[in-house]
Amino acid sequence: GEKGKNARGHLIVVEGLDRSGKTTQCHMLCEDIGGLDKEFKYIKFPDRTTATGQMINAYLQGNAEQSDQAIHLLFSANRWEAVQGILNDLRAGHTVVVDRYAFSGTVYSAAKDNPSMSLEWCWNPDIGLPKPDLVLFLDISSEDAAKRGGYGEERYEKQEMQAKVRALFKHLFSRLNDLNVKTINAGLPLQEVADQIWQAYKNLDEAGPLTEDLQVLS
Ligand code: TMP
Repeated sequence: GEKGKNARGHLIVVEGLDRSGKTTQCHMLCEDIGGLDKEFKYIKFPDRTTATGQMINAYLQGNAEQSDQAIHLLFSANRWEAVQGILNDLRAGHTVVVDRYAFSGTVYSAAKDNPSMSLEWCWNPDIGLPKPDLVLFLDISSEDAAKRGGYGEERYEKQEMQAKVRALFKHLFSRLNDLNVKTINAGLPLQEVADQIWQAYKNLDEAGPLTEDLQVLS
């Protein structure tokens, strides 16, 4: 359909465990969006290229230590520093596809069971970030994820941690009831997952141009 001059782009977030196929699916989605002659932008968090991203990368690879609180806030800062760019793209009418976001930020930190970091505490620094129009949660059991060639070497890539993360994702999404979350069984074959993601995207796109302002996470 014709896009109104003031229509903003959609903000679409893809979430899931390590090895759930998120990055592959993001690329397939972007390719299909581009195939419709629409402009898109792909963003992955953590963005390891920035100053905060380099600190996060060193932590994830075991080359630096950080307190649980400090690394949590670095992950959040790594999103906050990207906000203006995201808003500019959305206002230019581009679809922005985001690979991990505040939801990963909250549940991976909460999964550490640090008694001073409740789920609420973990969510707080991301309050005010642009709110996605659609969250695609690629759900896979930690057993099935582990079977996909095994986890890598990074911090958090352990089955016990992943099982906690999965439970916390479900808990968090059940609490954020004004959020548009679509859970997709990521244990299905790649193309079936891609088809379901595309259907969810089409539903959003066919609902018409977005003229209202973007909301924020609360
Ligand atoms: P990646 O494998 O998608 O690059 O993510 C790296 C790891 O960082 C992954 O185990 C998930 C974790 N993570 C957090 O702990 N907090 C965050 O805010 C984000 C975006 C990722």
